Amino acid sequence: MLSLPSGVDTVHSIRSVTLTSRVQARRGEDGGWMSDRIRLGRSDLEAPRLGVGAMTWGKPSGRSRWGPAKLAYGGPAGPEEEERAFQASLSADVDLFDTAAMYSGGASERRLGELAEGRSVMIATKFPPGWLSRADALPEALDQSLARLRRSAIDLYQHHFPSRRVPIPSLMGLMADAVEAGKVRAIGVSNYSAAQLRTAHAVLAERGIPLASNQVEYSLLHRAPETNGVLDACRELGITLIAYQPLAQGALTGKYRPGDRPKGIRRFGRYYRGDGLENAQPVVALLRELGERHSRTPAQVALRWLIQQESVLPIPGAKNGRQAASNAEALSFALAPAELEALDRATTAWRR
Ligand SMILES: NC(=O)c1ccc[n+]([C@@H]2O[C@H](COP(=O)([O-])OP(=O)(O)OC[C@H]3O[C@@H](n4cnc5c(N)ncnc54)[C@H](OP(=O)(O)O)[C@@H]3O)[C@@H](O)[C@H]2O)c1
Repeated sequence: MLSLPSGVDTVHSIRSVTLTSRVQARRGEDGGWMSDRIRLGRSDLEAPRLGVGAMTWGKPSGRSRWGPAKLAYGGPAGPEEEERAFQASLSADVDLFDTAAMYSGGASERRLGELAEGRSVMIATKFPPGWLSRADALPEALDQSLARLRRSAIDLYQHHFPSRRVPIPSLMGLMADAVEAGKVRAIGVSNYSAAQLRTAHAVLAERGIPLASNQVEYSLLHRAPETNGVLDACRELGITLIAYQPLAQGALTGKYRPGDRPKGIRRFGRYYRGDGLENAQPVVALLRELGERHSRTPAQVALRWLIQQESVLPIPGAKNGRQAASNAEALSFALAPAELEALDRATTAWRR
């Protein structure tokens, strides 16, 4: 178990202890996973069962205005909506926000730093700041992230994506140094294969530090983690799988239809191009049908399917207060085992 590093502020320590006592994971009568918090891997961090993706937040300048996060989603929603999304999430006890040094050249981290200043919220961010960064850039990049986030420590520091320029053992060594220096509370990775996870886990284990999480794409329309060994490896090693794009970039919300595709370059991605959206319509119809039984939306049912899986924590992107409040509602109901099975059966084609 990772003990809290020196330098952890008192508010966080007290909060951590309080939350530990609140972790009462239990199966509901209907088989639903009912705990309001889960432990992040085998770290000391307690997280809500759902977080918020803040990839599109912030106001980039210069070349960052043309970064993929903004282009994919059709531009920023604006500071007022970001603040509404932040507040709506906190009101629902959803206090885990995911960002990255790379998102809009640091603008997403900067915005989250402004919003979270003086608040007890969990921030997950990612190294590196650029596609070409090398492992030895970590100490400086971490200090820059801390400055943008206006914090003395990052709750979850994740390696964004494996790359030949960043050998996993060297990087994990530097991550472990950052934990020991009190600048990072828990270590995560992202887009790691099962084999890469095992390497990172083993390196950190030698330093007595758990690997807390692996953030990968996972949704009803992208079930590859179930078949490529990643989900099994996470469960075996006690690592939380943080599910990004849990709404398949909005395709699972039911608001887009063939002939009515979203703005932004995501319309050219696999969920929307060709017959992608058409193929998803039977899944959306089932989500709608199940949602009607529980007075919930298709998006809430899609998120709930993930929440009810052991060691899985979805982080839907929210562009405004309405979306954030609605996504948080996925925490307040449970799907029955037969409903989970119906969703499993309807999406077996996406298990590749
Ligand atoms: N580690 C990685 O490599 C990686 C990669 C991608 C993303 N991520 C992380 O994962 C997070 C989520 O991924 P994502 O934002 O790409 O995909 P997503 O969560 O599947 O989709 C989010 C989009 O769906 C729409 N939406 C969200 N909630 C809604 C609601 N309640 N009702 C209707 N529409 C709703 C919004 O777009 P519209 O309103 O425009 O439709 C929103 O931007 C990101 O913010 C980021 O933190 C990580």
